[in-house]
Amino acid sequence: MDDRLLASFLVVTLLIGSSFSVAYASRLAADGPVYDYSAYTACKSAPEDPLYNGGIIKDRVHGRRHHKLSLSGSRDNSPAAFVFYNLPGKTFYSFSSWLKVEDADSSSIQASVTTDKTTYQCAGTVIAKQDCWSFLKGGFVLDSTSNSTFLFLQDADGGDVNISIASASLQPFTQEQWRINQEYSINTKRKRAAMIHVADVHGRRLEGALVEVEQISREFPFGSAIASTILGNLPYQNWFVERFNAAVFENELKWYATEPQQGIVNYTVPDQMLEFARGNQIMVRGHNIFWENPKYSPPWVLNLTGPELKVAVNSRIQSLMSQYKSEFIHWDVSNEMLHFDFYEQKLGPDASLQFFETSHQADPLATLFMNEYNVVETCFDMNSTVDAYISRLRELERAGVSMDGIGLESHFTIPNPPLMRAILDKLATLNLPIWLTEVDIGNTLDQQTQARYLEAVLREGFSHPSVNGIMLWTALHPNGCYQMCLTDNYFRNLPAGDVVDNLLKEWQTGAVEGQTDDHGSFSFYGFFGEYKVTVCYGNRTVTSTFSLCQGDETRHLNIQL
Ligand SMILES: *[C@@H]1O[C@H](CO)[C@@H](O)[C@H](O)[C@H]1NC(C)=O
Ligand SMILES: *[C@@H]1O[C@H](CO)[C@@H](O)[C@H](O)[C@H]1NC(C)=O
Ligand SMILES: *[C@@H]1O[C@H](CO)[C@@H](O)[C@H](O)[C@H]1NC(C)=O
Ligand SMILES: *[C@@H]1O[C@H](CO)[C@@H](O)[C@H](O)[C@H]1NC(C)=O
Ligand SMILES: *[C@@H]1O[C@H](CO)[C@@H](O)[C@H](O)[C@H]1NC(C)=O
Ligand SMILES: *[C@@H]1O[C@H](CO)[C@@H](O)[C@H](O)[C@H]1NC(C)=O
Repeated sequence: MDDRLLASFLVVTLLIGSSFSVAYASRLAADGPVYDYSAYTACKSAPEDPLYNGGIIKDRVHGRRHHKLSLSGSRDNSPAAFVFYNLPGKTFYSFSSWLKVEDADSSSIQASVTTDKTTYQCAGTVIAKQDCWSFLKGGFVLDSTSNSTFLFLQDADGGDVNISIASASLQPFTQEQWRINQEYSINTKRKRAAMIHVADVHGRRLEGALVEVEQISREFPFGSAIASTILGNLPYQNWFVERFNAAVFENELKWYATEPQQGIVNYTVPDQMLEFARGNQIMVRGHNIFWENPKYSPPWVLNLTGPELKVAVNSRIQSLMSQYKSEFIHWDVSNEMLHFDFYEQKLGPDASLQFFETSHQADPLATLFMNEYNVVETCFDMNSTVDAYISRLRELERAGVSMDGIGLESHFTIPNPPLMRAILDKLATLNLPIWLTEVDIGNTLDQQTQARYLEAVLREGFSHPSVNGIMLWTALHPNGCYQMCLTDNYFRNLPAGDVVDNLLKEWQTGAVEGQTDDHGSFSFYGFFGEYKVTVCYGNRTVTSTFSLCQGDETRHLNIQL
């Protein structure tokens, strides 16, 4: 290839490579604010600058960037508050601020919002300290315009505490702007440019060759819980395989299921489920080794003495991890340990730590997860605030435990997308894989509403750069599902099923075809995954496969015929 040719190659690549992101970037700029993913989980001696230069808060503090308010934050007695007049409805608000408390070593501070209509909406939490600044990031959604909106900061336990606030920021996004930001993220983080170069055996570029590209598998793990009801149920199996590349057993691997009576261990059902998954190249999460909620421990476990329990838990780990060494992509080791502590009560404060260690020794390559609810779902639950989760993760890390991933159950009722994203932003600072592990929408809502909220949650999850996989909690039983089904018992879609099918289609590269240009090249943007490419020129046809995996550069592929 001569220099001139090489040069024109590069130009084309650059043009194609950049026109894509430039187009999106300019669209973003034209249409409004670019979402700021910044987050901090370290306590700092000085606050950082406010996000969005303060957003709509900056006007109220007359340009003073580190405006510091000192307010009493008690619940009853004039809590610290910002007041906003005429905030528009159908709008997402991203809120952030740096906080310090004055009268306690540390205090859980909750941001909450009241409007003309709603009395109390949690908009974020932070564990604030006395001698350094902590970063609160959250947000809220206004359905309709609110004449006066109060954003309170107060001690979550109702205590009387003086709060210092700095670098506060409130940035509105219209629904359209929010969506554009999601799409920008999806287009830049979940897709990649590919260029196919077609030449003959002598290296001569072939112009006008017909290129057909088809995505044959997805890289992003997207799946659902399954139950033993899938065994021998061909329609269920076909329905599942057509959609998903990942699964988790709803209950079948839990201790109470595999060892209902002490010493009588039976893996028949999970073995069969695993065989189904393996036969269809479906990856499976291991859920779970232990569940800290005594209600879901085998009944016989409850009555064991400490030493007896110690023997039983070790034998559980050894048995499970040797039966399934290397089979499961993750293990939820000590499920819901922010809410329950059955094993700590019985075995001492290091129980979970020991579980992680023993599991790691039993299978050093196993990916060990924590798994929790009410972390991204809401911020009312003080047991599982984002900072509580992070501090537990750090505690395990400090103790030398191999902790490989952050599981977020994602059992939502009414999702709050700006809050959900803010929490993901903070968790992302730990640089661990984040999975949404049990996504559903509560059954107190009708099916249409469940579907609408499910779509909001899935878009938020898929568009967040730090989310590595999404699992739905929609295992089908003859009498329904835990909270939300995707189909009826004849695999006819319910509204939530339509949402999932439409998103699966949207997040897969559709049929791409065209002809090579005068450089013998053909390019396209595709979601990460495996592709089949067929090139026809004259009477010759070549078929090849290639993968588009994560990477910033254009993927180049040479095809010769
Ligand atoms: C909000 O303001 C409008 C116009 O000033 C007024 O008509 C309306 O009653 C107010 N709504 C509430 C809930 O205060
Ligand atoms: C908060 O600060 C005020 C003014 O400095 C002080 O009078 C009050 O005692 C403080 N509150 C608490 C709970 O320490
Ligand atoms: C194990 O479980 C399977 C499925 O429930 C059952 O058919 C089988 O009899 C059990 N095996 C033993 C040894 O109990
Ligand atoms: C556990 O002990 C309690 C009281 O000591 C007893 O009533 C119960 O039946 C025992 N449960 C099991 C599963 O052994
Ligand atoms: C949450 O935390 C409180 C206080 O630490 C505790 O009493 C409660 O049992 C915890 N669990 C749940 C499920 O809320
Ligand atoms: C394919 O086309 C070439 C030239 O166009 C010709 O020489 C060759 O015989 C053809 N091969 C077949 C299998 O038709």
